[in-house]
Amino acid sequence: MVKEIPKHESVSPLTGKQYTIPEIIDDKAGIDSFIALHPGKKVVVIQGLGFVGSVMALVVANALTEEYAVIGIDLPTPFSYWKIQSINEGMFPVIADDPKIGQFYKRAREKNNLYATCDPHAYTSADIVIVDINLDVKKQSNGNGHLEDYTVDLAPFKKAITSIGTHCKPDVLVLVETTVPPGSSQKIVKPILEECLQQRNLPTGKLKVGHSYERVMPGPKYVDSIQNFYRVYSGTDEASADATEIFLRTVISTNEYPLTRLGNTQATEMAKVLENSYRAMNIAFMVEWSRFAEEAGVNIYEVVNAIRMRPTHKNLMLPGLGVGGYCLTKDPLLASWARMNLFGSDEPLEQSETGVHINDQMPIFAFQYLQSQYHESLKDKKVLLLGVSYLNDVGDTRFTPVLGIYDQLVEAGCEVVLHDPHVVFWEEKALKVGNDLDELLKQAYDFVIVTTGHKDYRNNAVLINKLLDQHSSFIYDTIGILTEDEIRLLKTRHVVKVIGRGDL
Ligand SMILES: NC(=O)c1ccc[n+]([C@@H]2O[C@H](COP(=O)([O-])OP(=O)(O)OC[C@H]3O[C@@H](n4cnc5c(N)ncnc54)[C@H](O)[C@@H]3O)[C@@H](O)[C@H]2O)c1
Repeated sequence: MVKEIPKHESVSPLTGKQYTIPEIIDDKAGIDSFIALHPGKKVVVIQGLGFVGSVMALVVANALTEEYAVIGIDLPTPFSYWKIQSINEGMFPVIADDPKIGQFYKRAREKNNLYATCDPHAYTSADIVIVDINLDVKKQSNGNGHLEDYTVDLAPFKKAITSIGTHCKPDVLVLVETTVPPGSSQKIVKPILEECLQQRNLPTGKLKVGHSYERVMPGPKYVDSIQNFYRVYSGTDEASADATEIFLRTVISTNEYPLTRLGNTQATEMAKVLENSYRAMNIAFMVEWSRFAEEAGVNIYEVVNAIRMRPTHKNLMLPGLGVGGYCLTKDPLLASWARMNLFGSDEPLEQSETGVHINDQMPIFAFQYLQSQYHESLKDKKVLLLGVSYLNDVGDTRFTPVLGIYDQLVEAGCEVVLHDPHVVFWEEKALKVGNDLDELLKQAYDFVIVTTGHKDYRNNAVLINKLLDQHSSFIYDTIGILTEDEIRLLKTRHVVKVIGRGDL
């Protein structure tokens, strides 16, 4: 366990370096001298330097057909202040398997066109502000993972938009990329900005509000998933949509990946949450069927692959430990909330809410399946979990479904050892995570559970041999990454179970 970080300190999880957050935020001199280095260039301010905003800032600093002066702004909080310092000191705050991150960051440093700050003074010179902050859904679940209720707290989002409106130029383009409840750009963002301008005795007629959602995929194609991918966009009026299009054309390869313009911001906002809800529902659907396959003695992988031969059914999912990450776990709820709270319906999006509910329970099902296959007590058993991140080949533990199975194993009295090649420290649990698999496999385990589909665990003959060296134990693959040959080999020494494989 780590000791709690004092409120005025912010520690980089990448380097362990500790930064003291200043009591008074005043970076006017830093911002103005950065702007002075780039006369004549448009200034783009990216609000939010998280998984999306920090990489978007790199893409804008390396724009294709225009040179921008880019300022990233985040909050002076223990959670985020280190990101600002890190960017200015030469250490990019996101680590992923994509070499373009390093290349783009290096180029931005050489051109000196990327600066980070927490002073809202940055908005005063912005021609474009891109909103890439979080908008959270708070879920209330009971002990069994049952979603009982949820709330969408718009207050931090409204505050963020107000901080733009309090400082921005009246003809700024505010481009919302945050995943918002449909209706937000028109009903929340624009009125707040207009009110702020009016309070400053500034005209509102030239203000532009666009919406274009991110499809960014952290991982080996991180940068390309922004720069070389299709985009949907809109504006709260024609001028806003036009300005959004002009900007997007300078940063995205729109010749190869043409833009799609939708009629209004409600439509693009709905497209984002529908896109993610569709995926979450598809996963939830498979959760149900993989359980049925376990009961019916069927190999669901064989079944799905047979069905996928039909071109119309190619995107049928395979089972897994459930849904994790920041987006799919909340976006269907954001949509349902908007229907009831911004458009006056008294009915939720029932299927979408049910999808979230089923996915949230998957780690519980995974644990129950383990218990149903292992008939003794789990107390004092030693378990190695392979993977803490919610997604293969990235180090993102936000809402990871591994949490659910970890908590239940601990509750059952197990000693749990963690491995992940991309996570050093599991922030949500304040736990150290081992990175040296060879070293960890020198110990003996009663259970080895594959919980993330990292490539280090796939087709890895060395890992299989090391597992074969283990004393007789229980290998449990919750992702379905073991091949038939690997399962056959491992079964010569161990009990092997795979989620959705009722035939084993
Ligand atoms: N992570 C993904 O893969 C992904 C993909 C597509 C879309 N999105 C969406 O993009 C948005 C951002 O996601 P993320 O993963 O980058 O979140 P994140 O939590 O990693 O980053 C958000 C950042 O915004 C900062 N922030 C919050 N309020 C602020 C304010 N008032 N001023 C300045 N900074 C502020 C936070 O401190 C944090 O650093 C979300 O709406 C998310 O749903 C995420």
